[in-house]
Amino acid sequence: MAKTHAVVLIEGDGIGPEVIGASRRVIEAAGVSVAWKVHYAGAEAFEKHGAVLPAATIEALREHRCALKGPTGTPIGGGHTSVNVQIRQQLNLYAAVRPVRSIDGIDTRYKDVEIVIVRENTEGLYSGIEHQIIPGVVESLKIVTEAACTRIAEFGFAYAREHQRKSVTVFHKANILKMADGLFLKCSRAVREKSFKDIEYKELIIDNGCMQLVRDPSRFDVLVLDNFYGDIVSDLCAGLVGGLGVVPGANFGDGIAVFESVHGSAPDIAGKGLANPLAAIMSGVMMLNYLGETAAAGRIKGAYNAVLAARDPALRTRDIGGNAGTQAFTDAVIARLKG
Ligand code: NAI
Repeated sequence: MAKTHAVVLIEGDGIGPEVIGASRRVIEAAGVSVAWKVHYAGAEAFEKHGAVLPAATIEALREHRCALKGPTGTPIGGGHTSVNVQIRQQLNLYAAVRPVRSIDGIDTRYKDVEIVIVRENTEGLYSGIEHQIIPGVVESLKIVTEAACTRIAEFGFAYAREHQRKSVTVFHKANILKMADGLFLKCSRAVREKSFKDIEYKELIIDNGCMQLVRDPSRFDVLVLDNFYGDIVSDLCAGLVGGLGVVPGANFGDGIAVFESVHGSAPDIAGKGLANPLAAIMSGVMMLNYLGETAAAGRIKGAYNAVLAARDPALRTRDIGGNAGTQAFTDAVIARLKG
């Protein structure tokens, strides 16, 4: 009998319920048996439970150790700390993995992008330690530890080896942040020297790295980045392959994983049925692979690839040049899956 997987489902804010609902429908249509443990985070959690990250959600994540999560909104310039940062820190989800790939049928300036971003997820500028020293002067601390830098470098190199990747590139700003980014580099070099000499290793100052990325992304393979650079470069890379609607992601800790797209809650299109669910569906595929459901993952991938490769505007969302809504695209993927 097929195994039933317990998965925490967090719809999140904005387009979250639309795209996570689509991903759930596709996973169920593929015949995978999932016991969804529905929990809340973000605005809906605040309305229902008086907290943006209820204790029950964290407890469920600790218990079931696997989640499919939608985006959660974070107020700008004040208000609560990002729910994502809280989840990643509290559960020690130290590595974000974001595969950025050219997709047949989604035309962009580039054809051969095959990048995997590995982002440190727990510290750096996202430590959230800020204060006002005197009115008009604030201080934000970038916390960098040898332990976390070594851990993410080991993860990045191990990922590269496991996935038959040839090179790891670290982006940094160690010319200015000599100690903070200097430590990141020192740890990356040490990890490579100790255990990964078979993998090519490059370092680029991040401004130059961004320029090289938009000139010729095919030069890059695995990118290992600190928290802040990883956040920004993820969106930049998404722009190379069709935008935020087409890039999935996962946050890994030891024996625990939360799968979520790179994109945010997209308040500009929320509730309109326009969001591209592809990134959430792809995040679901990453989750199925993690759970060992590789056959179902492969079939879902085959289905959305076939729908996109057909280049039918009626079967793709607006962000990638079509006129379908979230549901029409999802229906097309499910029809292909079952056909
Ligand atoms: P965003 O990613 O929500 O949106 C940026 C642009 O991309 C918007 O024009 C949006 O319509 C478009 N877009 C994003 N996802 C799309 C999709 N699936 N289909 C079609 N178009 C899509 O970024 P923004 O506007 O900077 O942030 C909005 C909120 O999301 C903020 O509160 C931010 O903190 C939060 N956020 C949450 C994340 C998470 O929970 N993992 C990640 C990034 C942002």
